[in-house]
Amino acid sequence: MKISVVGTGYVGLVSGTCFADSGITVTCVDIDEKKIEGLKNGIIPIYEPGLETKVKDNVDKNRLSFTTEIKESLVDCEAVFIAVGTPPDEDGSADLSYVLGVARDIGKHMTDYLVVVTKSTVPIGTAKKVRAAVKEELEKRQVNIEFDVASNPEFLKEGDAIKDFLKPDRIVVGTDSERAMKVMQRLYKPFTLNGHPIIFMDIPSAELTKYAANSMLATRISFMNEIANLCEIVGADINHVRKGIGSDTRIGNKFLYAGVGYGGSCFPKDVKALIKTADENKYSLEILKSVEKVNDKQKSVLFEKLMKYFNGNLEGKTITLWGLSFKPNTDDMREAPALVIIEKLLKEKAIIKTHDPVAMHETKRRIGDTVAYCKDIYEALIDADALLILTEWSEFRVPNYVVMSKLMKNKVIFDGRNIYDPTEIKEQGFEYFGIGRS
Ligand SMILES: NC(=O)c1ccc[n+]([C@@H]2O[C@H](COP(=O)([O-])OP(=O)(O)OC[C@H]3O[C@@H](n4cnc5c(N)ncnc54)[C@H](O)[C@@H]3O)[C@@H](O)[C@H]2O)c1
Repeated sequence: MKISVVGTGYVGLVSGTCFADSGITVTCVDIDEKKIEGLKNGIIPIYEPGLETKVKDNVDKNRLSFTTEIKESLVDCEAVFIAVGTPPDEDGSADLSYVLGVARDIGKHMTDYLVVVTKSTVPIGTAKKVRAAVKEELEKRQVNIEFDVASNPEFLKEGDAIKDFLKPDRIVVGTDSERAMKVMQRLYKPFTLNGHPIIFMDIPSAELTKYAANSMLATRISFMNEIANLCEIVGADINHVRKGIGSDTRIGNKFLYAGVGYGGSCFPKDVKALIKTADENKYSLEILKSVEKVNDKQKSVLFEKLMKYFNGNLEGKTITLWGLSFKPNTDDMREAPALVIIEKLLKEKAIIKTHDPVAMHETKRRIGDTVAYCKDIYEALIDADALLILTEWSEFRVPNYVVMSKLMKNKVIFDGRNIYDPTEIKEQGFEYFGIGRS
């Protein structure tokens, strides 16, 4: 079986590699020549645990290859996955120009029956537009080649992407064609053998499922952040509250952590896009509008605590940031709360020292040398007036407090991820401020 995956980013590269790992012949396509050239030479453009070895292994076994030419990738291909970006437009709706551009390219070059699958997160109605774009190109060519469309949203998490793809909680496929359904069933058979379900549905439901899932997760985060803020006012501890409610099986204990707000390439844009879709259909999603508002505010909570501590004056203060990426195990800096905090600190003329195990390169690409990038957590602490924890990387969890005490000018920790035990930290002689801990 042979497939093409167009768009070689977090989703396309992981999906293509995992499909190849199950024995399918996969061509990954991207318009970014540098990225494809790098991949041909074994250079992985993103940080994702386990990906490099898997890519190499499948390339060595001739099951995985890379090209900038969509045309060659479609030869003898049974399904083509569109996995390009869908960034937010100025009005918050998903920008579909990349997805529809690929659909047109497919129409221009396909030679045989194909299932055209949207894996990108796309609003309801996109599959129809993809179908129309492919059809239009076929008509221009005056050829009559059959094809079907399917919506197959991706639920992988950056940092755990390989595991999520190989052992998915579920696979969602929307299609109105029996033939496409059979192709998708064959493709995903290796991943469903151990009881991981494949759920078939109509196309609009599949398209909406992805947005509803991300919006539900974003809602849990904003909800916990609001409860955490209330905890601080009334003298409660969010960690106790989290355990208390998470043990209720109707609620469950996942995704209940208070922090500095959600970021990343998905939640912010998907919440926005769903609000926009509803607005366009003359329905106002009040809960999601609040989720967004709460999140925007939450990104500043740690900064405000810091300002209060220093009586509103951060000029010349050395502020250390541990963690830059929006979550651990990724170098993705899209919508990372760290960027908001850095901007605010720079405005106050603070001196910023940072360390992140993998995201410093990507941060530097975005904001240059406006902050110092330090080789480890301790170098970043030299002469620090305060330490801010912005990402819960595991290497931050048990630091050497004695070394920290010697390096820091002022021993105060603002823990934006609640990774420390306040009592233990205080015993070590530090002042401590967490989120939702009185
Ligand atoms: N990143 C995630 O964790 C995640 C998870 C689930 C779903 N998604 C969704 O998947 C989609 C892709 O996300 P991503 O994070 O992989 O994006 P990304 O930005 O990492 O990668 C997109 C890739 O598409 C390429 N591209 C753009 N136009 C192209 C074209 N015409 N032909 C070929 N390649 C083209 C870009 O060069 C880029 O390499 C988005 O819709 C996103 O919402 C992302």
